[in-house]
Amino acid sequence: MPVSVAARRQDSHVVRASNQSLRVALLGCGVVGSAVARLLTEHAADLAARVGRPLEVVGVAVRRAGRDRSETGVDASLFTTDADELVTRADLVVEVIGGLEPARSLLLRAMAHGASVVTANKALLAEDGPRLYAAAAEHGVDLYYEAAVAGAIPLLRPLRESLAGDDVRRVLGIVNGTTNYVLDKMDTTGAGFADAVEQAQALGYAEADPTADIEGFDAAAKAAILASLAFHTRVAGTDVHREGITEVTAADVAAARQMDSVVKLLAICERTDKGVSVRVHPAMIPRSHPLAGVREAFNAVFVEAAAAGELMFYGKGAGGDPTASAVLGDLVAVARHRVSGGLGPGESRYADLPVLDVGEALTRYHISLEIED
Ligand code: HSE
Repeated sequence: MPVSVAARRQDSHVVRASNQSLRVALLGCGVVGSAVARLLTEHAADLAARVGRPLEVVGVAVRRAGRDRSETGVDASLFTTDADELVTRADLVVEVIGGLEPARSLLLRAMAHGASVVTANKALLAEDGPRLYAAAAEHGVDLYYEAAVAGAIPLLRPLRESLAGDDVRRVLGIVNGTTNYVLDKMDTTGAGFADAVEQAQALGYAEADPTADIEGFDAAAKAAILASLAFHTRVAGTDVHREGITEVTAADVAAARQMDSVVKLLAICERTDKGVSVRVHPAMIPRSHPLAGVREAFNAVFVEAAAAGELMFYGKGAGGDPTASAVLGDLVAVARHRVSGGLGPGESRYADLPVLDVGEALTRYHISLEIED
């Protein structure tokens, strides 16, 4: 006889008494992790009221112990370098370490010990999302990851829940703040690519090594996550056709300007008669399109659905507090499920559409030629 998810959850770990706090383990205390820790501490009373039980931070896993992290408000004794042990004694685990390992092993271990997990890890979800979903289903726990795409912007929950009754046809996203900042500077100041990247680095938008952003890897991982949710189909990061912005010149941006258009790095997820097309590349957008007005390091995602029509989601896609906002929203959601006994939606891949080669995408190209005469 099949065993229900709820029954498995009851079996897999001890459900704590209704007046007890929910134990939260935080993995990582960098820019996002320290903001999560601080907001958890500052808003403890409100969060307890919203969840129905207090959220108690039982540990924060860090790579190096002994640093002054007093700005988080978390007691110094709770910082540990033993993340493996920490995840075994939490009801809810928040992962903001990033990268594939040890994040993947820690999340799998946390779920095996009955914890629901919240992660901001787009690279891991794009690489191994199905394995994480399978572990969540097996252990009867939640897997939430709103912060993985477009930081603070509520986007994945609208796709997973609010639009679950609609038919999403297309998702167009500016999902990488660094490249949007660079292209915006090129557009507004006429700067070349290298100068604009330098400006972005000076302001802290771009990393010292900006490869993941400017080559489109970061946006491709986010596109895979968006397409999987929008089209109920498994799409991995490696399925996404990827082209970064390193070849975009000041002349290209000027040519776009002459045509009353702007160059943006777009994540494009489309459903066609044949399957789904998922790609990341620089694109010219008419200045009249809502995405053209997305300036600096902001993100925005334009969704077209059969019944809802056109929707636009806009806001900050990176940074400590904005990303922590999305993480804490997920934490409250999974904590509420612990209190009420339910679970959020799991993986939806029933449509199982073919992922098309980029050659099958119907699109337009602009070709600039420099000629002698
Ligand atoms: N490097 C990313 C960006 C951070 O520039 O948008 C958020 O994922």
